[in-house]
Amino acid sequence: MKLRVLGSAAGGGFPQWNCNCRNCSGVRTGTLRALRRTQSSVAVCGEDAASWVLINASPDILAQLAAHPDLQPARAPRDTAIAAIVLVDGQIDHTTGLFMLRESTRPLLVWCTDAAGADLTRGNPIFAVLQHYCGIEQRPMKPDGREFAIDGVAGIRWRALAVPGKPGPYSPHRESPVPGDNVALVMRDTRTQRSMVYAPGLGAMEETLWQAMQEAECVLVDGTFWTDEEMITLGLSRKRAREIGHLPQSGSGGMLEWLERLSPATRRILIHVNNTNPILDENSAERAELARRGIEVAWDGLELEV
Ligand code: MLT
Ligand code: MN
Ligand code: ZN
Repeated sequence: MKLRVLGSAAGGGFPQWNCNCRNCSGVRTGTLRALRRTQSSVAVCGEDAASWVLINASPDILAQLAAHPDLQPARAPRDTAIAAIVLVDGQIDHTTGLFMLRESTRPLLVWCTDAAGADLTRGNPIFAVLQHYCGIEQRPMKPDGREFAIDGVAGIRWRALAVPGKPGPYSPHRESPVPGDNVALVMRDTRTQRSMVYAPGLGAMEETLWQAMQEAECVLVDGTFWTDEEMITLGLSRKRAREIGHLPQSGSGGMLEWLERLSPATRRILIHVNNTNPILDENSAERAELARRGIEVAWDGLELEV
């Protein structure tokens, strides 16, 4: 099983179009040692190298597909290597790219929870709108940790685990989250029996997920914010990281403490990194701390195989 990072930034990307924080202006002017990053998405393939599951459809999907020519195998006048799509939530940065796929010659097969599906039919009716184009075939994904397979992508077993987080601001139940608003995904290769965990939005650690992380070869987890008050300190927002469903890395109970407890053999990678996060600056003290702890920062194009 292979996982490829298509976009490693959080919503807004890096740099973000209207942002002049230290990171965004530094990367724009070339004075900061940092890689540009597109918005949150990964792709996974199993036995067939021309059959991928797209996990999350980012607003940057067309650029991401163009950056990876093997996702266009050109076996027919209209073709794609994307066999199915899995959504970890219904947020803008993970779903807007569905509109860009509307020329599909068959309905898009979209695996998502009932909670995300309802938000994408009503609150932000992407699914309803797409019925006027290629159509959507929604496949139910229960956030209960039970294994399932995805047709057309052999060699992988999937699990979706409900994790603490929040639905999009447009959701009728924004302030009263339900299980399934956000999930973490566990992918197991049926030949090697090795697994990877992908959890780009994680408001707090959750027991079942923690179990899966300890069993995994590689974990890609919420790297949105370094501190809980990052956006407040920079004067960019009044919201704390935890309030919008993201566990910060530093501090007591933060992501670094959790990652510290994994076996040294586990590959640990932060993903869905917000443009304000100091870890994007390769010369920062925070980035040096990650290096000391053996933690990597995902970048667009990173590939992992288990
Ligand atoms: C999030 O991960 O909290 C959201 O994607 C934020 C956003 O809408 O940009
Ligand atoms: Mn997001
Ligand atoms: Zn910024």
